[in-house]
Amino acid sequence: MKKIPFTFCFAMLFIACSTKQSTIQSNDLKNMTPMQSSAAQSPSFSIANLSLIPHPQSISAPGLVTEIKSLVFAHGDRDKLEQYMPWLESWPMPVSTNSSRVANVELYKYDDVGYKISIIDDTVRLYYDKDENLRNCLATLLQLLQLNKGRLPLVELSDNPQFSYRGMHLDVGRHFFDVEDIKKYVDYLTFYKFNNFHWHLSEDQGWRVEIKRYPKLQEIAAYRPQTLVGHYSDKPETYDGKKYGGYYTQAQMKEVVAYAAARGITVVPEIDLPGHMTAAIAAYPELSCHGKQVEVAQKWGIFFDVLCPTETTFKFLENVFDELLEIFPSKYIHIGGDECPKEQWKESSFCQDLIAEKDLKDEHGLQSYFIQRIEKYLNSKGRSIIGWDEILEGGLAPNATVMSWRGEQGGIDAANSNHDVIMTPTSNCYFDYYQSEDKDEPLAIGGYLPYDKVYNYQIIPEALSEDKHKFILGAQGNIWTEYMPTFEKVEYMGMTRMATLAEVVWGKNSKELGKFGELLFDHTTMWTAAGANIANHLLEPKLDISVTEGKGVAVNLSNALAGSQVFYQRPLDSSVKELVSGSIELEEAGDYILHMEKGKLKGKSKKITYSKHLANTGSITLENPPAAKYSGNGPQSIINGIKGSDEKYGGMEWLGFAGDDMVATISLAEAAQSVELRFYKGQGQWIYLPARVRIYDAESLELLAEESNIETEDKVATVMMKLSSPSTKLIVDVTNYGIIPAGKQGSGHAAWLFVDEVIIR
Ligand code: ACM
Repeated sequence: MKKIPFTFCFAMLFIACSTKQSTIQSNDLKNMTPMQSSAAQSPSFSIANLSLIPHPQSISAPGLVTEIKSLVFAHGDRDKLEQYMPWLESWPMPVSTNSSRVANVELYKYDDVGYKISIIDDTVRLYYDKDENLRNCLATLLQLLQLNKGRLPLVELSDNPQFSYRGMHLDVGRHFFDVEDIKKYVDYLTFYKFNNFHWHLSEDQGWRVEIKRYPKLQEIAAYRPQTLVGHYSDKPETYDGKKYGGYYTQAQMKEVVAYAAARGITVVPEIDLPGHMTAAIAAYPELSCHGKQVEVAQKWGIFFDVLCPTETTFKFLENVFDELLEIFPSKYIHIGGDECPKEQWKESSFCQDLIAEKDLKDEHGLQSYFIQRIEKYLNSKGRSIIGWDEILEGGLAPNATVMSWRGEQGGIDAANSNHDVIMTPTSNCYFDYYQSEDKDEPLAIGGYLPYDKVYNYQIIPEALSEDKHKFILGAQGNIWTEYMPTFEKVEYMGMTRMATLAEVVWGKNSKELGKFGELLFDHTTMWTAAGANIANHLLEPKLDISVTEGKGVAVNLSNALAGSQVFYQRPLDSSVKELVSGSIELEEAGDYILHMEKGKLKGKSKKITYSKHLANTGSITLENPPAAKYSGNGPQSIINGIKGSDEKYGGMEWLGFAGDDMVATISLAEAAQSVELRFYKGQGQWIYLPARVRIYDAESLELLAEESNIETEDKVATVMMKLSSPSTKLIVDVTNYGIIPAGKQGSGHAAWLFVDEVIIR
């Protein structure tokens, strides 16, 4: 793995205090004209790359680029410029230096202008209304320089973000990244104009902040004895036997806060409470209700050791926050609030007495009491809290902002109660999910979230009435690092989708996916050349597989990258053909191989294994719809002859039902004799095998087959059922596992049911 050469100095870019006085008049802004440059005739000019992400609201047509030796500050508010310029100077990417030309940078502040850039000849005019837009302006200039290898395009653009909160999160609890990596992460956020870095600093597996009053947080809570190897669902579990951990000193955190502030980014620290606190409890067992010694967690998931709402705990938290507030000047402090199992509170007489004394409804009321006490304390210090959407349960703290992660509903409910909201639903914003269905993808937590699904995200929920839209402050991408032991893996999982979310939360000015794909293509090329480990799945065919009743299965190509070609090979045919029609009819069973090319670049081949069966020409309807985020390509995904992955439950083949049964009616042209079904098991993700499968004839409602002993040691269970009599119309009734019992992952929640494929012969 190549490292980005961060020591490389942006040699050609320096600020000099020029004595040159501007001759620009204030009405210049209105009079900006299309580029007409005599210098455009110069042989040193070439066509500009204007693939800006996020894309600006308006930009002049692709112009030319000019060699520039240096940018010289010439006019305007020099202090302001100097506040931001150091990071422009030290940006790492190589640039051309073989010119003696000098560009004068002129800076103008106007009300309500958003920001504008006008580069005509050797004059760079920057216009902005507020500091944040000056930062955005300079980030654009930076991108223009990087995309054009250090040369400046002649261009005019104007821009303004749609959403005020544009965030990226990073979990340093599961894996720890040193300060240099954190700064690199902040650089990426700067490049893509994010303005909030949500730093997730405490976890069951490690406490990462120095708190001077509590030295055992550093000695004990910051280190776990060993770490789980492989995936959470792998059996048997194995551990690496190596002590792992680390923490940031207060000086280091201050350094990161200052580094981010100079780049226009606010660091929002998170101390996750009252759950996800095993590490702190390992250091100070008196924080739990049982008071027993526990170890810092060594595997992933949800843990039962949670904070007990005693005065000892509140004093501890107040002391912790007192130290943190000195380091983090942000308006917002994130207090977590997610995934707090209530078992220990149920067993604790202290908690039960407190519930009675405070006249609370139940343990959810107790969680609400907990959060509200912390909110009150932080409000008294002039700060506001953000919490994950569980803080809605049991009553929302009066001034809290809600991060809606388990879907959109938390955001909708909070906005409808006039609370601010940041949208970060797992379906579109969890960048720890797989981004490709390729079997060689590096290990991830699960799910399937390709960049196009991030692109298609609509931040304002459809169900929200217009008068409540103002409560949606913006969106955030989350990077949970259970399966990211190195910063290179963070880059791989994060960067492509971070760039895509930047486009979405800015206002999606690229308008359509094909166009955005082209912009992203230029960015992946640029970052790869700079040594960053950005994932590139743009040359991966995006397949839309359809079943037409009476006809069969076709592979349609959707969302192909503009300017690319697709090639395919059928089973039993060695010739590779270019796909011109946009779809391939699957006729013979076997492997279909596809790949994409753009220019000289060739993407990885994708194999579709087609197993023909009776339902391929049939039809299917479902009584209960699958969850929107696990709806594959609609109900037909489970009768199209293509099996979902044996390793991953996301993707376009598996259908996931949140707590519901799957009841499918399947019509066939020929009578069925047998039905085979496949179910996914992933208890760490709350995915359980079904309690029972029953198959009926849809006309007579006669029971044709039943199976209730469904088990597997693997991730996928296959159930083969012979029908007692043939039928051309079946009801396939799959009963969900139900509420997950105590002691199992996800206890108390309804289990997920994942199905693919229903093979009918
Ligand atoms: C979360 O993903 N537990 C907020």
